[in-house]
Amino acid sequence: MSEGARLILGIETSCDECSASVVERNGNGELRALSVSTFSQIAIHQPYGGVVPEIASRNHLETVNAMVDDALRDSGKNWAELDALAVTNRPGLVGALLVGVSAAKALAYVHEKPLIAVHHLEGHLASLFLDQPEASQIEYPLLLALVSGGHTNLYVIPGPPDTWGPDLLAQAQVGRSRDDAAGEAFDKTAKLMGFPYPGGIWIDRRSQGGDPKRYAFPRALPEKKVLDFSFSGLKTAVALEIQKLQKKDMLDAEIPHLCASIQEAIIDALMGKIELAAAKHRCRSLAFVGGVAANSRLRARLAENRRPCFFPKSQYCTDNAAMIAAAGAFQFQQGRILSRQQMLTLNAVANPSI
Ligand code: KG4
Ligand code: ZN
Repeated sequence: MSEGARLILGIETSCDECSASVVERNGNGELRALSVSTFSQIAIHQPYGGVVPEIASRNHLETVNAMVDDALRDSGKNWAELDALAVTNRPGLVGALLVGVSAAKALAYVHEKPLIAVHHLEGHLASLFLDQPEASQIEYPLLLALVSGGHTNLYVIPGPPDTWGPDLLAQAQVGRSRDDAAGEAFDKTAKLMGFPYPGGIWIDRRSQGGDPKRYAFPRALPEKKVLDFSFSGLKTAVALEIQKLQKKDMLDAEIPHLCASIQEAIIDALMGKIELAAAKHRCRSLAFVGGVAANSRLRARLAENRRPCFFPKSQYCTDNAAMIAAAGAFQFQQGRILSRQQMLTLNAVANPSI
């Protein structure tokens, strides 16, 4: 290993992915995932149409140790070689978070390793730098859109990871969704069309060949001074359109056009506010993180943007432990590790202030 290289084992259990990963930060500050081991609970929650918190925590309990063992084995490293453990402790489903936090505390204690508590959203931000040497070309200020199943937040990130402080996201936030998140809008409208949970990927796939202008769904909060989003009206408009199509027995034939139009409405709403925020805060590049950043139409539209635009590798868009280890590596570099007392009393927090 080169001088200054660090090895961090990350653990993520905040929602329905149970994941562990070993990430190396080399002497140049580049991050490389040596292993990622994830058990997705999507199939378990699918019959309920969404995540059932109690089932999620029980399943994390059954799988977390196996994920850690697999990640360490696949990385080719051993406990003695690790510099620290990083775990998501906020925000998320509290019972699910507690499983990862308890496992990480026990492992850090037994193997005498420092423990780092990671904010899940900082993990999504850090995912931009995983296995991507080109992330060093990001110019700041960076307009970051975090678009996931639980959040649609805009941040102005002032500088590179080594300058990030503990309250980075709280200080950097300039916009948010006032109701449903963008991913939630995808999931809820997909459910109305009969697609399984989570529906974003289905809308993405089934929109191929569809006409994005066929249905004029609402783009809410058009006021130029507002940098917030609202997606709840879209769901109602789509439900009404589906009812009309069902009455005419035309729903099946219209699915690609419905999907393309829904997707366009969500992306237009996102892009409108992103352009306003980037201009207002004089941002020099754009970045998208979170599950919705995997959307193929969003990526195609951004390819035409005049500002350089950055995405995480698609395997790091949805929840995973590599991004938690990556955020942990940045914190470790800055000495932001828990004291022994803080480690022993570390708790899961469902809704921190950011
Ligand atoms: O970041 P993530 O894994 O979990 C949260 O922290 O919420 O994001 C999951 C969200 C879901 O709403 C899912 O439907 C959406 O990301 N998603 C997509 C695509 N892939 C995942 N939405 C649109 N297009 C996609 N290709
Ligand atoms: Zn997430």
